[in-house]
Amino acid sequence: MRITVLTGAGISAESGLATFRASDGLWESHRITDVATPEGFAADPALVHRFYTMRRANAAAAQPNAAHLALADLARRHDLTLVTQNVDDLHERAGSPDVIHMHGTLTGALCAACGHRWPAPPVMCPGDPCPACGRPATRPDIVWFGEMPYHMERIWNALDQSDLFAAIGTSGNVYPAAGFAQHARRRGVECVELNLDASANARDFHHRITGPASRTVPEWAVSLV
Ligand code: APR
Repeated sequence: MRITVLTGAGISAESGLATFRASDGLWESHRITDVATPEGFAADPALVHRFYTMRRANAAAAQPNAAHLALADLARRHDLTLVTQNVDDLHERAGSPDVIHMHGTLTGALCAACGHRWPAPPVMCPGDPCPACGRPATRPDIVWFGEMPYHMERIWNALDQSDLFAAIGTSGNVYPAAGFAQHARRRGVECVELNLDASANARDFHHRITGPASRTVPEWAVSLV
């Protein structure tokens, strides 16, 4: 069976990583415009680098949970395309072989001048020179609000060719990811969401499995023959 899975911050919540829109979420303690937009980075690159240094350290200290491990196992039994909005590397560390990070990764650095990418150091500072072109245009390789998500053609193609689409641990607030279920459903793809509660786009899914991902995802994955 061809399956496309989309994950959001909720799949990493039980690994101890903050989600965004919960009462203790990242967007309660940080303003999106300050730390997740190109304008915010231009205005105060040191603040943005501190924000991602903190998230990079938290992600490095976290461990994959049973949900991440269940998806790695699922990829060994089915034709699975794993798309994540998350920028942590818990899917990779759980053993998922080919993770599509549509919002970039905390472990990546990008040169805004020449487009060069390299492994991000634990701490990045304003003015760090690009190792390729030498210009002080280093930034986290994260897709900020107002920027185009990565790998979209590959993602749309996977959705079009899937038998099943599952969204796990995402509130359905941010497009284009929030539109994946509607896109898939219009093409006859069965859609299921696995979430702690109903997402903003719950109506786009045929089924919903409610509960913590570390329980629901392994149970769901095992049920797929
Ligand atoms: N198990 C399953 N779902 C959970 C769990 C859990 N243990 N804990 C939280 N959730 C659910 C919440 O109910 C919520 O619906 O995960 C969802 C997290 O929603 P958000 O915090 O909005 O995160 P996400 O949907 O990934 O945000 C999408 O928004 O800010 C941008 O770029 C950022 O990638 C992010 C995007």
